[in-house]
Amino acid sequence: MLSCLSLSSNYLSQKIASRKNRRDNKRGCIRRAEILPCAPRDGFGLRVFVLSDLHTDYPENMKWVKRLSYKKHRKDVLLVAGDVAETCKNFVLTMSLLKDRFDHVFYVPGNHDLWCRREGDSDLDSLEKLNKLLAACRLLGVETNPVDIDGLGIIPLFSWYHESFDREKDITGIRIPPLEMVIHFLFPFKPKDVIVCFLLCILYLAACKDFHACKWPSMLSNRDTELASYFDAMNEENQDMVKEIQSTCSQVITFSHFVPRQELCPEKRMLFYPNLPKIIGSDRLEVRIRSIHGAEGSSSACHVFGHTHFCWDAVLDGIRYVQAPLAYPRERKRRMNGGEAWLPFCIYKDGKLADRLSPCWWSDYYAANPRSPDKTDLAPWVARFYGKI
Ligand SMILES: [Fe+2]
Repeated sequence: MLSCLSLSSNYLSQKIASRKNRRDNKRGCIRRAEILPCAPRDGFGLRVFVLSDLHTDYPENMKWVKRLSYKKHRKDVLLVAGDVAETCKNFVLTMSLLKDRFDHVFYVPGNHDLWCRREGDSDLDSLEKLNKLLAACRLLGVETNPVDIDGLGIIPLFSWYHESFDREKDITGIRIPPLEMVIHFLFPFKPKDVIVCFLLCILYLAACKDFHACKWPSMLSNRDTELASYFDAMNEENQDMVKEIQSTCSQVITFSHFVPRQELCPEKRMLFYPNLPKIIGSDRLEVRIRSIHGAEGSSSACHVFGHTHFCWDAVLDGIRYVQAPLAYPRERKRRMNGGEAWLPFCIYKDGKLADRLSPCWWSDYYAANPRSPDKTDLAPWVARFYGKI
């Protein structure tokens, strides 16, 4: 299942590739079809690049940002779809590095950006941190509001996830820790299962840390739709500008950190953490996207998102949905999204969206296979993982 998507029809090269894949898979390295990096600029038109989940608290990721060319992008636009860094210090450094390299940089906040545990100010809550980050963006010249750039409308959308976004059948028969579980593992692991337990801890820590690392004022809670409504309401303040963009721009690109539709995430049986869909998306976000692009969408409608670290390029009900995550160093090392040479990802140039959908593993999978959420038998790589408990 997790093998390279070979495009070669030559039998011999397929055999060689298959041997190489087996070797790579043994090493834990997943081969993917390559997404091609953007060709050098050949005209004067605007180009728009996208990137999410930079996580520059990892030194490898900060180095990647520092290595981005000054020369190549000085006339380009970059949309940063959240999860830049956990600390304000790394956030400001990252955004200033990006602003030095791109003509326009846009940003929406992700959950990691609003974690408070390493800020050294125990009174700071996540809403105060949000205001601090937005103020830093204003100082750096990073846009967080809708803007019309030469007839191209760029609309950042604030959002947060809610559990009821997940409407697909739960996986039963395995012990999936609850969303808020972080430190206390209450499962009766045997000593021989310690390594598996440790691996699961890493997964769950990454998936569920928001419940502890974000601090919300008492009127807001992570466990219902309050946060999703609060963040969605922030977009109301920009409605006048959104209407102006709708009336004057022929092309509009919206972007958010969180996921607007469950179909933009693999089914639960494919996920190492099957409850992931409960902490990734917002129904309000999709309603807002449709209110901008139209219920039917159009050939020029595009929404960029982040958060799940799965690269994605697909059209659903007339809107093109794209994710281009830098993700964690260990994910890039495994070539989970085909490495990093294709990032940041160019979605718009020569006055239009990229002509072809890019070869992203999961969006390609769902282009060829129907979604079957009623099937709850675990995918082999997931079953192997849980089978040891
Ligand atoms: Fe995120």
